[in-house]
Amino acid sequence: MSSRSVLFSVVVGSLALLYAFNRPRQERIVHDKYGQVTLVNQLEFNVMGTDGNFRDTLGRQLYNPTNSTTPFFQVFDEEFLDVIGPNPSLNAIRSDPSFAFAHEAPVWVPDTDEIFYCSNAGGELGRSNIDYNNQVAKISLKEVALAMGGSPVDVNVTHYKIDLPESIQMTNGATGLYKGQIILMNEGRGHRPANLALMDPHSYQVSVLLDNFYGRQFNSLNDVKVHSSGQIFFTDVPYGYYQDFKPEPQLPNHIYSFDPRTGAIRVVADQLNKPNGLAFSKDYKFIYISDSGSLSAHFGQNLTYPATIQQYNVDPKTMALTNKRVFAYVDAGVPDGVGVDEFGNVYGACSDGVQVWNPSGKLIGKFFLGTTSANFAFAGKGRLVILAGTKIYLAQIAAGGMSLMHN
Ligand SMILES: *[C@@H]1O[C@H](CO)[C@@H](O)[C@H](O)[C@H]1NC(C)=O
Ligand SMILES: *[C@@H]1O[C@H](CO)[C@@H](O)[C@H](O)[C@H]1NC(C)=O
Ligand SMILES: *[C@@H]1O[C@H](CO)[C@@H](O)[C@H](O)[C@H]1NC(C)=O
Repeated sequence: MSSRSVLFSVVVGSLALLYAFNRPRQERIVHDKYGQVTLVNQLEFNVMGTDGNFRDTLGRQLYNPTNSTTPFFQVFDEEFLDVIGPNPSLNAIRSDPSFAFAHEAPVWVPDTDEIFYCSNAGGELGRSNIDYNNQVAKISLKEVALAMGGSPVDVNVTHYKIDLPESIQMTNGATGLYKGQIILMNEGRGHRPANLALMDPHSYQVSVLLDNFYGRQFNSLNDVKVHSSGQIFFTDVPYGYYQDFKPEPQLPNHIYSFDPRTGAIRVVADQLNKPNGLAFSKDYKFIYISDSGSLSAHFGQNLTYPATIQQYNVDPKTMALTNKRVFAYVDAGVPDGVGVDEFGNVYGACSDGVQVWNPSGKLIGKFFLGTTSANFAFAGKGRLVILAGTKIYLAQIAAGGMSLMHN
C-alpha cells in the first residue's frame, strides 16, 4: 500500500492530517474540525464477493460503505478537498418534519442575503395537489449567521411564505438574478397553464413572459437557466400529470430556448426521456441536463430507464444542442437540479444528497445527507444551500458557484 492510499483510507476524526498527493507541491490539508469528513478508498470496496450485501436501490438503500453518520462529506477523490476546504461544516438550518417546504427553485439574492425556494408540488408532504397550490418562500442567511453565533451548529430559522398572484401555480424551478428578477418555472395546476414568469425579489411583483408553445399548453415546466447569449433555456416534462395535478401531456418531453427580446421559441433537444435540471458550463459552450427517466412519481420507478446527467454542446449560432453524451449516471435515485462551481465541477441533487463530479465526469465526492435533495444553490463563495424537502442544509466550504447573474 502506498502512503497515499494509507492516508486516503483513514476516516478522519478531529485529528489534523497533512498529506501530499501526485502533485508534490500542492498539499491538501484536512483539519476536519467538525468531524464530518470521510475519506473513502474505493479500492477497499470494489469487490463485495459471492455473498456480498449488494444494494437494493428500489428499497432506497444508499451507498455508505463506511457507515458514516449523516450528514457528512463523502470524499472519493482528493479533488473534492479543494471543494470543501480544510474545515468544512454541514448543518440543518431550517427543519419541519411535517412539511416538504423546501423542495425546489432555490435562488440566492445577494443584496438581502436571502434564499428563495418552493415547497413540493404534488409530492409527499407537499400540502399541494390539484386543489391546492404550492408555496414560494424564503429564508434569511443573515438570520442563520446570527442564530449560529459564529460556530456551525444546527439552527431553525424562519420560513417566510410569499403571497403571489393566481397566475403562479405549482412552482418547480427558478434561476436568477435575471435583470434583477427571479425567473420562476411554474408547472400549472388543472386547467391553469404552466408558465415562465419573472418575480421581483423585493416587491414580489410578477410578470408572466410565456405560457404557450404556438397556442399549445406546456406539460409542466420544470427548470430553467439563462445562456450568455441572453436566451432562456428550460425543460418540460409531465411530472404534473404523474402527480395527478395536470391533464395528459400533449407535447413530447423537450428542452426549449426562448428569446425574451423577440418572443421567439424553439425546441433545442428532444432525445431525453424526462429532462429535468439543467446547467451551463462556465464558458457556456456545454450544457448538462438531468434525465430522471427512471422516476415517474405515482407511475412508479423503472431502474432500466435513465438516471443520468447528459452533456451536450450548445451550438453558438442556432442554440441547438448537439453531440449528446453521458456525463454521469448517478448511483442514488435520479439526478434533479444541476449546477457548476468556480472550478467547473458539476453538482447534481440526488437521493442521497448532492453529488459532485469533476469536469471529466469522475465522481469526486458527495454532500451526503442520507435523504433526497431536489436542488441546491450557491450563496456566493463558500456557502452551498441544499434543499432536502423537510430540511434546508448549509454547507460551509471553500468553493463558490459559477455566477448565475444576467443583465
Ligand atoms: C457497515 O455496516 C454493515 C452492516 O451492519 C457491516 O456489514 C459493515 O461491515 C460495516 N462497514 C464498516 C466499514 O464498518
Ligand atoms: C422549526 O420551527 C418550526 C416552526 O417555525 C417547527 O414547526 C419545527 O418543528 C421546528 N423544527 C425543529 C427541528 O424543531
Ligand atoms: C422496465 O422497462 C423495461 C423496458 O421498457 C421493461 O421491459 C420492463 O418490464 C420494465 N420493468 C418494470 C419493473 O416495469
